[in-house]
Amino acid sequence: MLSKATQVEYRNLIEAAKAAAELAYCPYSQYNVGAAVLTFDGRIYTGCNVENAGYTQTRHAEEAAVLNAIAGGALKRAAEAGLTQFQFIKAIAVHSRKGSDPWPCCNCRQSLSEFGFDFDVIGEGPNNTILCQKLRKLIPYPFPIEKVLASVRGSRS
Ligand code: THU
Ligand code: ZN
Repeated sequence: MLSKATQVEYRNLIEAAKAAAELAYCPYSQYNVGAAVLTFDGRIYTGCNVENAGYTQTRHAEEAAVLNAIAGGALKRAAEAGLTQFQFIKAIAVHSRKGSDPWPCCNCRQSLSEFGFDFDVIGEGPNNTILCQKLRKLIPYPFPIEKVLASVRGSRS
């Protein structure tokens, strides 16, 4: 159950994802997607899908929102506040203009998991409800990022 304050914050985040979806470049699918990342310090960064005639070069809205958050300095600010890469995202809202559940594709789930599993993935549900799941729930058997990081640390020592 989301607190009243979080509900207000999340509705605002969903609106940001909706606005971002309007900016999508999607001549091949006409399927506008917008995403909005809420950072640990309350800022919002958005992204939209950007398609390509080569199809595989298409960028997804969720990836773009995370990229914009990092390029906007959110990860650096988090580090300065003593937080890790796993703590800088509080939530991500996803919205497709044609209307459906907000769940990101599996590539995006993997991309998001680089930055933790404990943040909320949210979107608009039926009758103005807020759909909300932890990323962990969307990735039941995750690739073990901590083992890969540990492997690099081990080889340095
Ligand atoms: N799309 C996203 O932006 N995010 C996803 O996670 C799923 C798919 C985009 C890619 C493509 O431009 C359009 O939606 C249809 O697949
Ligand atoms: Zn995706």
